[in-house]
Amino acid sequence: MCGIVGYIGNKNCVPLLIEGLKRLEYRGYDSAGIGIIDEGISFIVKNKGKVSELQNRLEVLNLKANIGLGHTRWATHGIPNEINAHPHQNEEGTLFLIHNGIIENYKTIKKVLQQNGYKFQSETDTEVLAHLIDSFLRKGFDIFKATQLALQEVDGTYGLAVIYAKEPDRIIAARKGSPLIIGVGQNENFIASDVSAVLAHTKNIIYLEDGEIALITENDYQVKTIHNEEVIKEVEEISMTLDEIDKGGYPHFMLKEIMEQPESLRNSIRGRLLIDEGTAKLGGLENIIDDLLDVDRFLITACGTSWHAGLVAEYMFEQFIRVPTEVEYASEFRYRNPIINKKDAVFFISQSGETADTLAALRETKLRGGIALGVCNVVGSSIARESDSGVYIHAGPEIGVASTKAFTSQLIVLALITLLIARRKNLSIENGREIAKAISKIPDQVAEILKLNNKIEEIADEFKDAKNFLYLGRGYNFPVALEGALKLKEISYIHAEGYPAAEMKHGPIALIDENMPVVFIAPKDATYDKIISNIQEVKARGGRIIAIASEGDDEIKDMVEHVIYIPQTVAMLKPILSVVPLQLLAYHIAVKKGLNVDQPRNLAKSVTVE
Ligand code: AGP
Ligand code: GLU
Repeated sequence: MCGIVGYIGNKNCVPLLIEGLKRLEYRGYDSAGIGIIDEGISFIVKNKGKVSELQNRLEVLNLKANIGLGHTRWATHGIPNEINAHPHQNEEGTLFLIHNGIIENYKTIKKVLQQNGYKFQSETDTEVLAHLIDSFLRKGFDIFKATQLALQEVDGTYGLAVIYAKEPDRIIAARKGSPLIIGVGQNENFIASDVSAVLAHTKNIIYLEDGEIALITENDYQVKTIHNEEVIKEVEEISMTLDEIDKGGYPHFMLKEIMEQPESLRNSIRGRLLIDEGTAKLGGLENIIDDLLDVDRFLITACGTSWHAGLVAEYMFEQFIRVPTEVEYASEFRYRNPIINKKDAVFFISQSGETADTLAALRETKLRGGIALGVCNVVGSSIARESDSGVYIHAGPEIGVASTKAFTSQLIVLALITLLIARRKNLSIENGREIAKAISKIPDQVAEILKLNNKIEEIADEFKDAKNFLYLGRGYNFPVALEGALKLKEISYIHAEGYPAAEMKHGPIALIDENMPVVFIAPKDATYDKIISNIQEVKARGGRIIAIASEGDDEIKDMVEHVIYIPQTVAMLKPILSVVPLQLLAYHIAVKKGLNVDQPRNLAKSVTVE
């Protein structure tokens, strides 16, 4: 998920690796490291924190080498610290390996390796790869073959690179599900997870495909599949400049993060969905699942967008788990002397895992004996560490202050949690399968919605000068109305409010006139007819309506000014689809107003103060 860079050639690789890692910093990371080989001697330097710290340490050491690997880590398994940072190595310290992605079957592989006497230093999934490759080296294979054979045993995703002091003239690089490129130079070659890391040195790029493994030397490269078929690769000349390529070619992190939701959602569900059994597998809840089946009540606390995810979860939990569920702002929860019993399970949802109010609510819960469960993105964050158990959402680093991909990943993970617990209680296998199948389709459905980007930009152009906005939805889509309004206000500074649609007649309807855009989230579901009545009420008062509706709903078209269609799915998952057009709408309005969408005024990405 994070950054890889590697060099082999006639120059000193150390400054080149640091420069490459700096180019990858925009992706967000929690630790950094390099591994180099100089005349058969290997050195490794790594630390928690910034690339600049690594650079300072390297300057003092004054190392030189012609082959090396650099990595920025975004932890998925094991907290961010020096030991868990990459490169990982074999026991004799001759093999260095860097890896992006997740090795799903690492526990099984680790057990076998441990039985064969291998000792592990880190908590990462990655380290198993270093020892697994080493086990093939010990059988007499060379580093290319050993890596190839090791990867045949691995499930999961990787972009990875390996160097070996006993064959110091080559880098081995492989890819499955996590990008990797070769940068072809003169008397030097590079590898990287992202073109931006090498573009200052070469524009000649080879894109590895899933299942491919490359052997790269100073003047040559050779690509095969993991199963040893030859592959002929073409070198492509990149026309993009460095400026364009930062942020993955997008003008803002927020747009990049909105656009990468199919991928982040795939990462959130990878290895966790058991479609045939109609359930989910969540390692983080395994040790506590029996307690969860027995709780009297679920509580959910969070702030901002994460709180909205909690509201959706309330609907999910009560519909399928049939246990009373309450959602509360973390800031209120901690100060109102809440009643928490041993048979209460309290979820703390937080992208950053550092939000002060949510963390304080967690501590209060633990003090009072409730079961504390974290749903976090940042691995090793305070909330993740202090919770009794929990589930990571694996959305990857989110840089834009306005949360987008973390929200949809929170929702899909909360759906997995619902499925897991509900199937252990009352949910039938048929209903479980229906939900599991629907979850598996979500990433592709989000990709479909993203194709409407241009259309949504046009709508944004029409409404960018509005002073107020109202967002209305019912049931599962009521929290989406709140989230749509929050997105708009935080980045465009337009006043926006979200309401349950039926509440409109109890007050907000007074605001409606021809200057008030109203966004209805109105997919086909149990409350569809009622929301159509609300649409008529707004229309009768001259309000301008944008509707998010289900594909195939022709009826709504004639009632509203604009309609954005989303694919069909089960009700509990509709928010994941219906929020995407609202993210894009807010984004385009803010951009058209010339505002800084990635760092809106007065806001911080991680709110670590009360
Ligand atoms: C979301 O767009 C906001 N910037 C904000 O509401 C955020 O969701 C809130 O501060 C909670 O953050 P957390 O998920 O990191 O705990
Ligand atoms: N799963 C690996 C780890 O936690 C790789 C993380 C990454 O992609 O940066 O170390």
